[in-house]
Amino acid sequence: MKFFVDTAELKDIQDLAATGLLDGVTTNPSLIAKSGKNFIELIKEICKVVPGPVSAEVASTDYESMLKEGQYLATLAKNVTVKVPLTPAGLKVCKELSGKGTMVNVTLCFSPAQALLAAKAGATFVSPFVGRLDDIGQDGMGLIKEICEMYQAQPHLKTQVLVASVRHPRHVIDAAKMGAHVATCPPAIIHQLFNHPLTDKGLAQFVADWAKTGQKILAA
Ligand code: E4P
Repeated sequence: MKFFVDTAELKDIQDLAATGLLDGVTTNPSLIAKSGKNFIELIKEICKVVPGPVSAEVASTDYESMLKEGQYLATLAKNVTVKVPLTPAGLKVCKELSGKGTMVNVTLCFSPAQALLAAKAGATFVSPFVGRLDDIGQDGMGLIKEICEMYQAQPHLKTQVLVASVRHPRHVIDAAKMGAHVATCPPAIIHQLFNHPLTDKGLAQFVADWAKTGQKILAA
């Protein structure tokens, strides 16, 4: 499973890229607004830090404007993935751009039917939002399961399931078990994936016991 970070904070992206475990980045207009940075400059910077797919979302909602914005965003760097909303116009843009070899992430997916349409439109990624479904009392992970099963039953569909709106590590683990291709997580959740209290406790004990031996592995 690939790990993307869902943020527009360059420092967080640099820190996670340094772990060697980061495969890509997703942004959205809300994250860009929160960063206070210039969108175009920021996307160029992020694309230099992370060689994998970097999602940059169109701002318009009509076909012609979205298409022009998407075509422009795709020129910013080779690894830009143009993000479009799951609307009829967004899917039309997806088909046009993906047909020309541009990576497209279809976002705001909340049903298996929408995911099927995104795949038919040639999306590189479809982003089902699990946390926002959970927030309204629906089953976010149930949606991931259904989409994964549907795509597996239709092997000609090459769209990758990009689990979005992730709220906790359990979402990531369950998505991996279901066969989802990517999880995009806020930085804090990626850090949580590393942690376990018994790892910290065990390491502290090993460090203390090693000190008692008075030995060094490498000569000073
Ligand atoms: C995905 O690409 C979205 O940016 C993101 O995962 C939305 O998450 P939220 O529901 O926490 O805003």
